[in-house]
Amino acid sequence: MIVVLVSIVASDGKKVYEKKCASCHKAFVPVEKLMKNFKEMNNTMLHLKAPTLNQLSFRLKQQIGDPRGDEDIHRMEVSAFIADYLLYPDKDKSICMKDVINAFDTMPSMKGKISNEEIEAVSQYLYGYEEHLLHQKSMKPESFENALQKAQKEDKIIMIEATAPHCHYCIKMNREVLVEPEVVAALQKDFIVVSVDVSKKSLPLGLSASMTPTFFFVFADGTKDEVKTEHIQGAWNKEDFLEILKEAKKAKRKEK
Ligand code: HEC
Repeated sequence: MIVVLVSIVASDGKKVYEKKCASCHKAFVPVEKLMKNFKEMNNTMLHLKAPTLNQLSFRLKQQIGDPRGDEDIHRMEVSAFIADYLLYPDKDKSICMKDVINAFDTMPSMKGKISNEEIEAVSQYLYGYEEHLLHQKSMKPESFENALQKAQKEDKIIMIEATAPHCHYCIKMNREVLVEPEVVAALQKDFIVVSVDVSKKSLPLGLSASMTPTFFFVFADGTKDEVKTEHIQGAWNKEDFLEILKEAKKAKRKEK
């Protein structure tokens, strides 16, 4: 019963957003463009009417309460902020960056135009937005065993991302690079992505990561019982990461 209720609320959140927020708040714009728009162009490049959902989701989670604390409590803290802001908007309470908030007038109050249930639903949607996006847009992370079978069958490379929950550069990679359409396309075409939280699980194949993020590329040849791996550490920008993926493809060809 509870499970059913939760899933209804989760899907409602998106509907509430579409009906009551989307006229002003666009959903996703790549971070690089947002930076340029707000930091250099004073919103004259994108002409946004309000911060985007990926901006809001990220800022709310970083700026409110204790992002490293218990997730349920953190969700409640973020929801409380949103509930208050929807009824009593005031830029003095803003959690957005100065350059961003200065581009807008204060949001109109939604008092009388939105119910408590809708507020709760849309808050949960906002909280989970970035994560949801990651899984939907780029990588549906697979278990390594599945990935290995698929890689052999479909002749693809496995990319294992070793991450940790509060690793700044992992967050940066995930939100700025791994959701970029070109990167997503490259990954979908030739790779199978596995993501491992190394604070909770060990890496497959006896691999180890001395820092996060580390990206391992696993080349599995269906006709042999052995695999070859290469790895690269740290956060990269989009261009460099695309180059890294290209190199991995070259390395695979050499294997044959
Ligand atoms: C008529 C346009 C409009 C609508 C509709 C609207 N917003 Fe906003 N919202 C804005 C603007 C403009 C800002 C930036 C200025 C500000 O923060 O007041 C903003 C800011 C915000 C902020 C960040 C507050 C801050 O500065 O820290 C949140 C959270 C937010 N909106 C949530 C929502 C949600 C959820 C909905 C739908 C239920 C919604 N908004 C509907 C225009 C709108």
